[in-house]
Amino acid sequence: MHVVITGASSGIGLAIAKAFDVPGNRLSLVARRKVELRQLQAELRCESQAIVADLSNAEDPIGWLVRAEETFGPSDVLINNAGTSYVEPSAQVDAERVRRIFQINVHTPIAAIHHVLPAMLARKSGCIVNIASNAAFQPAPYFAHYTATKGALGNFSESLRMEVSREGVHVATIYPGPVKTPMADRNFAQVKESSATQLAPVGDADVLAKLVLRAVRKKQARVIYPSFYAIGWYLPGIGRFIAEHFVPKAKGTVTPPLAGDAG
Ligand SMILES: NC(=O)c1ccc[n+]([C@@H]2O[C@H](COP(=O)([O-])OP(=O)(O)OC[C@H]3O[C@@H](n4cnc5c(N)ncnc54)[C@H](OP(=O)(O)O)[C@@H]3O)[C@@H](O)[C@H]2O)c1
Repeated sequence: MHVVITGASSGIGLAIAKAFDVPGNRLSLVARRKVELRQLQAELRCESQAIVADLSNAEDPIGWLVRAEETFGPSDVLINNAGTSYVEPSAQVDAERVRRIFQINVHTPIAAIHHVLPAMLARKSGCIVNIASNAAFQPAPYFAHYTATKGALGNFSESLRMEVSREGVHVATIYPGPVKTPMADRNFAQVKESSATQLAPVGDADVLAKLVLRAVRKKQARVIYPSFYAIGWYLPGIGRFIAEHFVPKAKGTVTPPLAGDAG
């Protein structure tokens, strides 16, 4: 089975790659950081390839996927995990950063889906996993662009599932709340300390990765993890009240780049 995982160099994507490291799988590991991808490959038992690509490239959004399929064949499972975020007053965000976050979090994943979907429908098999966020159904201050991108990806994903599930193609939407990764650490550092940040349940990437594997195997529609954040899905009014009154203020500094953004 050819499994394509974007954002496999860090955090949730890295954990997903390890969860899918089962005999018979061939993993295409996609990210910008080659050294981290090579280190991951050295730990894996199944066949894998590192595909170094910048998913913010609007001119060629799916060249990386074409390259992955040239070697390992058509995608059986596409996992759109790569993502970016910032936590800042919205007025200070410039147009180029808005373009990048929409390209990485929405346009590139949807372009990738358009690339794999016709072949999956023809075969009447295949699985698409979209890593959205609880931000998809939970607006939050200082997160306006991020919540907009995750809402777009989450709604696209849920709608597509309704459309193609009877044609043999499964679509799973994953809604993580805070999960301990470099992105989450950086985001928490951007807001002022408060009891809300200390009380917010934080998940574990390896646990989430196992839930993603189960969602693929059992054809589950969605995963919300940690389950505390399902409150925003089932009771959106309460989730919005909590976000409006208890999410602490952002420090207002420009969100520092993550390791991959610096290079
Ligand atoms: N952690 C959380 O609390 C949380 C909560 C909800 C949703 N999520 C979502 O989960 C996904 C993974 O996040 P994470 O927490 O694991 O973050 P992370 O540790 O920062 O990992 C992000 C991954 O995305 C890749 N990536 C970012 N920009 C890229 C680009 N321009 N081109 C190619 N790859 C790029 C990074 O690889 P390179 O830097 O090597 O390119 C890295 O592998 C994201 O979609 C995020 O929005 C996370």
